[in-house]
Amino acid sequence: MKGILLAGGAGSRLYPLTAVVSKQLLPVYDKPLIYYPLSTMMLSGIRDVLIISTPAELPRFCELLGDGSSLGLSLTYAVQHAPRGIAEALCIGEHHVDDRGVCLALGDNVLYGSGLEPRLREAASQRTGATIFGYQVRDPSAYGVAEVDAAGRVLSLEEKPAAPRSSLAVVGLYFYDGNAPRFARELSPSPRGELEITDLNARYLREGTLRLSRLGRGTAWLDTGTPESLMAASAFVHAIEERQGLKVSCPEEIAFRLGYITAEQLERLASRYGSSAYGAYLRQIVREESAPHASGDSLVDVPVPTRPRVAA
Ligand code: DAU
Repeated sequence: MKGILLAGGAGSRLYPLTAVVSKQLLPVYDKPLIYYPLSTMMLSGIRDVLIISTPAELPRFCELLGDGSSLGLSLTYAVQHAPRGIAEALCIGEHHVDDRGVCLALGDNVLYGSGLEPRLREAASQRTGATIFGYQVRDPSAYGVAEVDAAGRVLSLEEKPAAPRSSLAVVGLYFYDGNAPRFARELSPSPRGELEITDLNARYLREGTLRLSRLGRGTAWLDTGTPESLMAASAFVHAIEERQGLKVSCPEEIAFRLGYITAEQLERLASRYGSSAYGAYLRQIVREESAPHASGDSLVDVPVPTRPRVAA
């Protein structure tokens, strides 16, 4: 399965922070925001990712991430000329999607937790229908909201309802079969002029092929849409990293743990970061892995097998 990472939009709720810098390049503690959804994709087993952003910002993402080969990935880029809705990413990325489906991730969503990786891989292994993720939040009215029955089947979906029917928000990570670009093209813009991702999910619901996977207490889904939530996400990542000495959503580490890159390549990536703590962390992984009796899974944020080779 391939991925589409949507990193456009105006980020207007974060002005003036985003006046000249893309929201998805802002720091969440020690790394740019986009590293988090990129890590989520990698943990889903996805290696071929199309990154979509605005004409002004796309070059910066290219500069940061390049063609992805240093991470054992294939990264390509496309422009969204105006923020015409999240579902438009599937129209822009149509050429990138094949019959194995596509994972669409919002570039501003942070996911972290134990047991997350198998859930992601399960969703990525489906060849028909769509999988979305539900997460209980205190105020669901800022999100897509799913109403489910006792068996967990989705009954209804609404985008930012004034009176939510449940407290289950829909996470900005979606797994679709190969029909998604066609379904997205068939959508009409909403009253606010956008191709709504909730309308696309509602299409799968009508087709009877929508699955909802509920993320529980052991998972953190963090929002980064306002200065407060961006700060809270940074504080969360800082607290975990300080306590464990392990990084949250470090793409270089994940690439190494998944066997996409060698210790030598990781060392080269570390040297890019000079004497920073991030560089030191990557060098520490290389040292620990080169040591006799090294334990391959001691530094991962979610359990991954000891350095398997993972097929694309
Ligand atoms: O975060 C999850 C929520 O994301 C879902 O629960 C909602 O159903 C979904 O509509 C979306 O809501 P947001 O209010 O967060 O959407 P927003 O317009 O802020 O866009 C989310 C990200 O996608 C943001 O980083 C900007 C980017 N984006 C958005 C649009 C509309 C684009 O790159 N292009 C676009 O056209």
